[in-house]
Amino acid sequence: MVTIDKNDLIFLDRNENLYGPAPACYEALQKSNGDTLNIYSRDFSRGIKSALSERLALDFGTEEKKILLGYGSEDILKQVVQCYITKGEKILIPSYSWWYYKKIADDVEGISIQYPIVEGMDSFSYDVEGLIKIYNEQKPKLVLISSPNNPTGNRLEIEQLNFVLENMKDTIVVLDEAYLLFDVAFRTDPVGLVNRYPNLIILRTFSKYYALAGIRTGFAFLGDNHDKISILGARYLGFNRLSEKIAIAALDSPDYYNSIGLKMAADMEMLYNELNQWPGFTAYRSYANFILVKIPVEIKDTLKEYLTERKMIVKFMNEEGLDRHIRITLGTHLQNCLLLEMIRTFMCKKLNHELVQRV
Ligand SMILES: Cc1ncc(COP(=O)(O)O)c(C=O)c1O
Repeated sequence: MVTIDKNDLIFLDRNENLYGPAPACYEALQKSNGDTLNIYSRDFSRGIKSALSERLALDFGTEEKKILLGYGSEDILKQVVQCYITKGEKILIPSYSWWYYKKIADDVEGISIQYPIVEGMDSFSYDVEGLIKIYNEQKPKLVLISSPNNPTGNRLEIEQLNFVLENMKDTIVVLDEAYLLFDVAFRTDPVGLVNRYPNLIILRTFSKYYALAGIRTGFAFLGDNHDKISILGARYLGFNRLSEKIAIAALDSPDYYNSIGLKMAADMEMLYNELNQWPGFTAYRSYANFILVKIPVEIKDTLKEYLTERKMIVKFMNEEGLDRHIRITLGTHLQNCLLLEMIRTFMCKKLNHELVQRV
């Protein structure tokens, strides 16, 4: 029997990282005595945007001006769309994707057109040929790709990504890599990519892998065609000094994050295997910190009620094509075990009930 001492709700519906940030992040916060709070954070004399953009440039081996910072990658994405898209212009977005993509296109009266993400036996995948076909037909101003994609959890492999980018040189491509770092064995080369494809913008964030959603810090790698957004997105007086210190402490803690990544990978396997054992369930392979699961439609309401009564919150999806699905954010190991135990109890009761009725 798994027990958890808190009476609080457990939110496994928000794609946050419930392990929390590295100890060094808390230390950075505690050490900030506030003596520089009256000073703008930008380093005027060296002409850089901030200590964090400078650090990221150093870590990734690129120029500071190619890094853009924002109030979460949400903020950068919104700025990019507002900068480049005007009324009636087309944006391609994945057919199943973060709801916000469509919203930001709607906000500027852009036309969002969906390209296919297809459901397979045990995973979703990008239909790369389908995407390129739609791209050639529609000639969009901007293409949004999310890898790994929310909520389906699939990603583009390196060869697929290269193939897509090779075929989309005439537009703006935004690659959202908010969840990329969770597979600790898989990395793209953002600097190599934006150097090769000047039309590309790659978004990353401190919210997910680094468990720092609360500091609202995201960043982007900009290809050479993107002076416009580089100028528009710069904050000449600097960024949030405290957030930057905490983010830098996270960058200084690779061992902590690697160990969490490995724990989460083991739990992902545990969830995938166990959930796939229940009749009518399909858990899909995911490279993010969440897993999408198709459940029998007749248990949707009762399972939701059952879990909510036990303070366990997972996301019951409602969108077209995914309305029999739940999206579970991986929590800590204890929280994941607790969730599985609840589903086990729920399913055993249901199956026993069906058996009794049949006899
Ligand atoms: C696919 C995707 N991209 C970006 C974000 C935004 O992350 P943030 O603004 O916290 O960096 C989210 C948030 O859930 C997301 O699901």
